[in-house]
Amino acid sequence: MGRSTNPAAARPLAREAPRQEPPASRPFLKWVGGKTQLLEQMTPLLPRAWNRYFEPFVGGAALFFDQRTRRPDMPAFLSDVNAELVSCYVAVRDEVDAVLDALAAHVYESDHYYEVRARKPADLAPAERAARTIFLNKTGYNGLYRVNRSGQFNVPFGRFTKPLFRDVENLHACSRALSGVSIEHGDFSLVLERAKKGDFVYFDPPYVPVSPTSDFTAYIPGGFGEKEQRKLAEAFRKLAKRGVQVMLSNSDTPLVRELYEDFAVDVVYASRSVNSNAARRGKLTEVVVRSYGGKGS
Ligand SMILES: C[S@@+](CC[C@H](N)C(=O)[O-])C[C@H]1O[C@@H](n2cnc3c(N)ncnc32)[C@H](O)[C@@H]1O
Repeated sequence: MGRSTNPAAARPLAREAPRQEPPASRPFLKWVGGKTQLLEQMTPLLPRAWNRYFEPFVGGAALFFDQRTRRPDMPAFLSDVNAELVSCYVAVRDEVDAVLDALAAHVYESDHYYEVRARKPADLAPAERAARTIFLNKTGYNGLYRVNRSGQFNVPFGRFTKPLFRDVENLHACSRALSGVSIEHGDFSLVLERAKKGDFVYFDPPYVPVSPTSDFTAYIPGGFGEKEQRKLAEAFRKLAKRGVQVMLSNSDTPLVRELYEDFAVDVVYASRSVNSNAARRGKLTEVVVRSYGGKGS
């Protein structure tokens, strides 16, 4: 094609104006069961509107960060039983620059990793404690969170090419997204005292195991067994009765189907990324249960 003499033709036509908004936030921790890859399938299943947002198994908070970008004024309440996770969110919300300064003191190196891992979180200032959590999460094996009987983090050093554990732009974006958000340490049942008619609650609990060989009924201190799954289904029902819009993710298993048989159930497809066995990394079906909308698939 020859050169155009029309100056307008040189400009691409439907070019968007440069975006003025601050960059969107995305999870700053890798979390087992993180929902980033499922957002596209889950978004059409959200309620049309709600008053306040509750996420009582917050984990990596993928749905929260995504929704916060679209609804910056949405009042939100996040909670989790993992104290390290909760104090990390609080520090990123309240003192992100101090967290970034503390992260600058870390290096991706095996000896340093084990030295940081051995530090007792309770002895650290909040920003250093948060930086320790972020650093270990981004440089430890597979982004796992695992503690031993005495509560000490015990995930081994992970092999990466160049792990980005000090992502300045995203941590600032997350801090803005968390501004004004309530972040609490506690059991999911807290939400029963808080949520009212018109609010939205998203439950993303530890999943019911899919494998029949998993010892599901065994008592694991702090674990989430069948008893807790039943207690959660009871909470789901109570909230729904109150007029709260409730959505829940879980594995597609007979127990989950039984517990939520009165509600709309949709199937979504997840590919497991945190699985040491490569052969098991295939597509898995999960369900999304809703207290609102029609009966699903
Ligand atoms: C599957 S993860 C959540 C994933 C998260 N929604 C995401 O997108 O990354 C489950 C979370 O539930 C928390 N948890 C386990 N038992 C709990 C309980 N009884 N009450 C509240 N949180 C709990 C765990 O600490 C973990 O962070």
